[in-house]
Amino acid sequence: MDHDTTRRVNASIDRDDPLAELDRALRTRPRTIPPRWLYDDRGSELFDEITRLPEYYPTEAEREILATHSVMIAETSGATTVIELGSGTSDKTRTLLDAFVAHGEIERFVPLDVSEATLLYAAEVLAQRYPDLAVEPVVGDFTRHLSRLPSGGTRLVAFLGGTIGNFHLEERRAFLGALADVLEPGDWLLLGVDLIKSVDRLVAAYNDSQGVTDAFIRNALRGINRELDADFDLGNFDYVPLWDAREHRIDMRLRACEPEVAHIGALGLDVALEAGEELRVEISTKFDPAAIVAELADAGFGHTEFLTDAAGDFGLALTRRR
Ligand code: SAH
Ligand code: AVI
Repeated sequence: MDHDTTRRVNASIDRDDPLAELDRALRTRPRTIPPRWLYDDRGSELFDEITRLPEYYPTEAEREILATHSVMIAETSGATTVIELGSGTSDKTRTLLDAFVAHGEIERFVPLDVSEATLLYAAEVLAQRYPDLAVEPVVGDFTRHLSRLPSGGTRLVAFLGGTIGNFHLEERRAFLGALADVLEPGDWLLLGVDLIKSVDRLVAAYNDSQGVTDAFIRNALRGINRELDADFDLGNFDYVPLWDAREHRIDMRLRACEPEVAHIGALGLDVALEAGEELRVEISTKFDPAAIVAELADAGFGHTEFLTDAAGDFGLALTRRR
């Protein structure tokens, strides 16, 4: 990739550092905490626990799609490099990699994640499982560091788990555009999206009976307290997951029970919260298949094969850079 492309990619998303981003997000209304604060070591462990909750269907639904279609994906794409964005434990990805290795053309696997300890551990496990595969982890932010992705050969970028749903619409557009910019015509994208379904099931998936999702969302404040010399009173917040029917998304918030002024030392910022005021920590958008296929076309991807599990809960879009 040439330098001009790199500059365009970075400029189109967010050139600021995480502190400036947090400062800005806390001054908007509703006050917001960028999702990267969810994934410290504890947050990654809590997410892993979420994936095993009976209410949280996306992981098993996506695993079912991968089990059914990975051989077709490996054969159709013939990719020599598989890149995984927001790879986490890369647990489900093994099904995909098994098929690619059996097909015989893959040379390299490049997982990219902000959560360094989880990424490096997962890379170690995969390097042992696939001794003939070059496993090259990249610690990075997929909203800012797509230019760090390796070039050459035929690449398939996997972005699984429905993580694209954690972007707002304009962030999603910028992300897909930036991804299209770094890919060459003929490279592939395999995109996991959670689908719109009954409100009861959606809300239950984000309001589990064991309180793991509550702990995961609350953990963002714990990380800010620890890393940025802040003093949010974790006990002063209720976890509030809401279904936003207009935007098709679960909106996960922390509501202050009592007024509080939280000081964030590293930002020199006092956050004055009224009783009842909410901090938005994460959104999780659910998709209509036709709408996401249209977004992919707008971003520069060609024909999309849209795969689902038997129950129609989750979708995997396989598409190619035009
Ligand atoms: N792909 C896995 C994990 C999904 S959880 C699955 O399908 O189960 C979301 C993952 O994205 C976490 O591992 C988190 O650390 C990572 N992540 C979140 N924001 C990120 C960002 N801005 N850049 C890179 N990785 C990010
Ligand atoms: C990573 N991402 C797709 C998860 C989701 O379902 O939106 C994160 C999550 N938040 C609460 N539970 C799971």
